[in-house]
Amino acid sequence: MLDVRDVHVHLAERLVLAGVQFQIEAGEFVGLIGPNGAGKTTLLKTILGLVTPDLGQVLVDNRPIRRGNPAIGYVPQKVHLDPDTPLRGRDFVALGLDGVRWGVPLPRRSRRERVERALGSVQALTYADAPVGRLSGGELQRLQIAQALVGEPRLLLVDEPLSNLDIRNAHEVVRLLHELARSRGMAILLVAHDLNPLLSALDKVVYLARGRSMAGRTDEVMTSESLSRLYGYPVEVMRTRGRIVVVGGPDMHLVPPEAADHAGLGEWEATTP
Ligand SMILES: Nc1ncnc2c1ncn2[C@@H]1O[C@H](COP(=O)(O)OP(=O)(O)OP(=O)(O)O)[C@@H](O)[C@H]1O
Ligand SMILES: [Mg+2]
Repeated sequence: MLDVRDVHVHLAERLVLAGVQFQIEAGEFVGLIGPNGAGKTTLLKTILGLVTPDLGQVLVDNRPIRRGNPAIGYVPQKVHLDPDTPLRGRDFVALGLDGVRWGVPLPRRSRRERVERALGSVQALTYADAPVGRLSGGELQRLQIAQALVGEPRLLLVDEPLSNLDIRNAHEVVRLLHELARSRGMAILLVAHDLNPLLSALDKVVYLARGRSMAGRTDEVMTSESLSRLYGYPVEVMRTRGRIVVVGGPDMHLVPPEAADHAGLGEWEATTP
């Protein structure tokens, strides 16, 4: 479904992506993990055709990418919504149909049906008529996913959907996406800093650091050896209480056990600034 081949991207004369390479099959749920500034959003924009690689190629369904490809759904990292936006949830979701459907617009009835279906698949029907500006972070996150689903894409790119959610909502969104990949055979690439909330659901991990990537099953990628090779210096991957913690990467501040206890963390913890 998605084939990223040796992609190099310069932005403002800086090499942001320096040979990124991986594939995603239909029905696979894949995590794109990496520190702040690693180039995760840039990679999504490249897949969308909004950024042109200087070298390498991206194929979607064995074809070179083009802008506005209806096979791809995208949930951006940031949405800016005025709290007074006079837009109901279902109108917000319907925006995903415009710009996706080229040529003959869909008849009104099938538009409505698609919007209902998308709202239902993220369990947002109960607040579909509320003004979007008043929704909670978790509710809005679901509507954004519904907006990307309404065009019925076969590849879904989701940028940091978990960053503003509490643990329960984060797990709920992960479960939802996992289920969508399984039931619809949709390929999903989800961006996150923290792999842990995704551990049980992911089929594969693409880890991005220093512009390069390492892809494979979680147990293949998340080892001290693999990540040290990727970072170009020693980092340690620790498994503790069912969590994976990368120690020594540029984005990680190591909290010693005493300080962690003090902060109520109770374990060695790597946090991102
Ligand atoms: N339009 C641009 N022009 C110049 N530099 C850019 C541009 N967009 C991004 N960058 C730089 O490219 C690098 C990668 O940015 P990107 O947004 O892809 O990172 P990210 O992995 O998504 O980070 P985060 O986890 O903070 O969202 C950063 O150093 C950023 O400053
Ligand atoms: Mg980003």
